[in-house]
Order: sequence, then C-alpha cells, then structure tokens
Amino acid sequence: MINLERKTNNDNYMFSGLDTVMLAREYGTPLYVVSEDIIKEKCKEIRDSFILKYKNVKVAYASKAFLNLAMCKIIEREGLCLDVVSGGELYTAIKANFPMEKIFFHGNNKSRAELELAISNDIGRIVVDNLYELELINNIAKKMNKKSRVLYRVTPGVESETHKYVITGQKDSKFGIPLVDDIIFEAIKRGMEYENIDLLGFHFHVGSQIFDNKSHIIATEKIMNLIKEARDRFGFITKELNTGGGYGIYYKQGDNPKPINYFTDAIMEKVFSKCKEFNLDLPTIIIEPGRWIIGEAGITLYTIGTIKEIPGIRKYVAIDGGMPDNPRPALYGAKYEAVVANKINEEAKETVTIAGKCCETGDILIWDLKAPKTEAGDILAVFSTGAYNYSMANNYNKIPRPAVVLVSEGNVETIVERETYEDLISRYNIPLHLK
Ligand code: LLP
Repeated sequence: MINLERKTNNDNYMFSGLDTVMLAREYGTPLYVVSEDIIKEKCKEIRDSFILKYKNVKVAYASKAFLNLAMCKIIEREGLCLDVVSGGELYTAIKANFPMEKIFFHGNNKSRAELELAISNDIGRIVVDNLYELELINNIAKKMNKKSRVLYRVTPGVESETHKYVITGQKDSKFGIPLVDDIIFEAIKRGMEYENIDLLGFHFHVGSQIFDNKSHIIATEKIMNLIKEARDRFGFITKELNTGGGYGIYYKQGDNPKPINYFTDAIMEKVFSKCKEFNLDLPTIIIEPGRWIIGEAGITLYTIGTIKEIPGIRKYVAIDGGMPDNPRPALYGAKYEAVVANKINEEAKETVTIAGKCCETGDILIWDLKAPKTEAGDILAVFSTGAYNYSMANNYNKIPRPAVVLVSEGNVETIVERETYEDLISRYNIPLHLK
C-alpha cells in the first residue's frame, strides 16, 4: 500500500522522507523519483525470506523494469544477479562494471552481435530460447575457444491471470522451447552433444503482475517432471532451475500484492517435494523479479496546466507528460493512483480525468481521480511508476524524456539527466541533395 501517512507540517506529499513539491521545483517536471531506501527494503525482504532461508538459491533483478548505471550499482551492492534481455541492457551492465558472471542473458531473437558481446565478456548464463540460437552460440563460442553456460527457456504451457500482453507461459507463445516431447528432448540431446555448450538447466517465466502463486507452482511442477525425464532418458543432471519473475505489486485499490515468500516458499516446497519423489539432487533455484523490486520504489511528478470542464460530462486536468513517459495506461489499460502533492491535506471533492499532453485521444493517464480543487501549477504525484515507465518511455510528439532522481537517506541525486531538444535531433542527418 502506498504510504500517505508521512506528511510534512505543511500540505505537501512526502516521498521517502522528501518533500515532493520541493523536488518538482528543484528538478522540474515531469520527474521520475526513485527511492533507493525502498529498493533496499525490498532487497532486504528478498534476503531475509529467500536467500538466507534456503541454501543454493540466487536472485536476478530483471533489469528491463528499470535500468541505468546507478541501478546496476545498487543491484550489485545488494548482492543480486542481473537479468538482461538485449545488447543495450548488457552494454549498460558492462559500463557499470557489473560482475559478468552474475548476468543472465535472455531474449527470443538474440542477434549474432549480441551473442558475441555476451560470450566475449564471459557472461554468466545465456538463457537459450530456441535451437537456432543454440547453434549460433556453439559456433561463436567455438571461434572464441570458450564454453558457454546455458539454460533452456521452456514454455511450460501454463496460463496466468494477468493482462494478455504480459502472460508468457502459455503454449501459444513466441518465447521459449515448447514442452512437447519431440522438441524438448531433442533440444536437450543436442545441448549435451555440442562441444562448446555447457547446458546447466532450465528457465521458465509465466508472466508479469501476477497475484496468485498457482501458475508458478504448476510451472515448477511441470519443469521438475521434465528434469526427472531428462535424467531418466539421457542421464542429464539439472544443476539450475530459473523460475522467472512476475510477482505483482500495488497500483490501485483492489490490488493485493503478497510478500515475496508467498511465491518463493511455494516454489521451493514444490521443488523439495519433487526432488524427494524422484530422488533428484536439489538444483540451484533462481528467481527473477523486476517489478516487485522497483515498481513501488518510483513515483512520477507532473505539473498541472490546462483544466477543461465539459459541463455535465467530465473535467479534464492536463499534465506536462503522459504516454511518452508512461505508455502503460494506453498499452495495457493500466490504472494508477495519484495525489495533488501540494494539497495533500485538502479534501478530495472533485472527480477529474488526468490527461497527458500528447496529440492522441488515448493519452489519458488516470480516469476519474478523486482530487481536491486543482489549479494550474499544482503538482501531481503518480504512484508505483518505478517499473516499466522510464524503461518504456519514448519521444512521441518529440517530447523529451524526463530526468530520474534517486532519493537516498534524505539525499537526492540525478541519475538520468533530462533530455533536451538538442538530444532529440542529435542523430538526424540531412542528405546532401536536401541541404
Ligand atoms: N524474467 C523474464 C524472462 C521476463 O520476461 C520478465 C518480464 C521478468 C523476468 C520480470 O518480470 P516482473 O517480475 O517484472 O513481472 N512491460 C510490461 C511488463 C513486461 C514484462 C516482460 N518480462 C508492463 O509494463 O507491465
């Protein structure tokens, strides 16, 4: 639940110990504010209820949720591994000097160049999506005289209750090797044969923003059955099982996020019982949360501008951002909660619709928000924007991306500079004949 209790003596909303109106004034808006303190609390919960509770487990932060050099440093200090899904994410980790052996490299269509970057840097694990990729890795590794440690991403054929764009474990999926006997066992056989491949085990990811642990449990069970079958058929010993991420967070009333051990205990229980049943050695178990670590650690601050009342219909309150800094409402129908940060103690008497500034009817950030009477110049704070906001931001309508500031024990630092108009045109060329 969003903590609205910490208020200043005045009327301003405090986030992670800091006055958000002051932050907006100091750094401008739109502004992503990320709390290192909250990230630390999340990592502590992961440590206390998973890493220290079980032997032989690892946690990889899914960097697609929010990644930059500072975040790499935080994740390294917290002792977690990193999941990357592109050459760009990997490059960011390399530039942050993130330990390469702690990186998992995902992706359903990794390019040769991306794989070369990964293999030449001795990246920890490549999570192989398909046999074409496996062959490519084997060839590249051979040329570089290396052996690549890989896991197979398996599509477990499990459906989770979440938005259809973010379920990934179902049979009809662009991700992974389907759990179909002819395909998966052929893949395991090949993985064992290739000289420059060290096949260590399996990976699955059932989807994102999930509140119920059922799909994780069913997927774990299916993969444990696969692990037994692979041993029985080929003597293949699974050393690692990566169970993906997907743990849901609080965005809006009705969301019921769980502590991380609601998922991890259930996964571990299934692994233990299956290992016992099949007489298997316990593999290293890896989890890969993204949103759960960073989602509630971020808010976005906007300045309110135009206010338009259509009598008897609706009151539109426009902000200085929108779908370029947060495409999730337009893309997934995602819902957010917000407060007018400079009027936190005023009664919410009005119902308003928060509109973005894009030239697009669908650019509505929040429908029907209860708010006090708003005026131009008010600051709006939108909650739970830490995950998949900055990372999915774009420049639609040539709107520069906001800055990101990191709040840590009462201090603030800019970790991503605000884009400028100059940045927006910095890679444009005019062909000679048009000059
Ligand atoms: N591991 C793999 C292989 C993944 O594909 C993902 C997310 C994760 C871990 C982390 O999932 P999380 O714990 O963050 O739920 N853009 C969408 C979310 C897409 C998630 C893609 N994969 C959104 O804004 O809701």
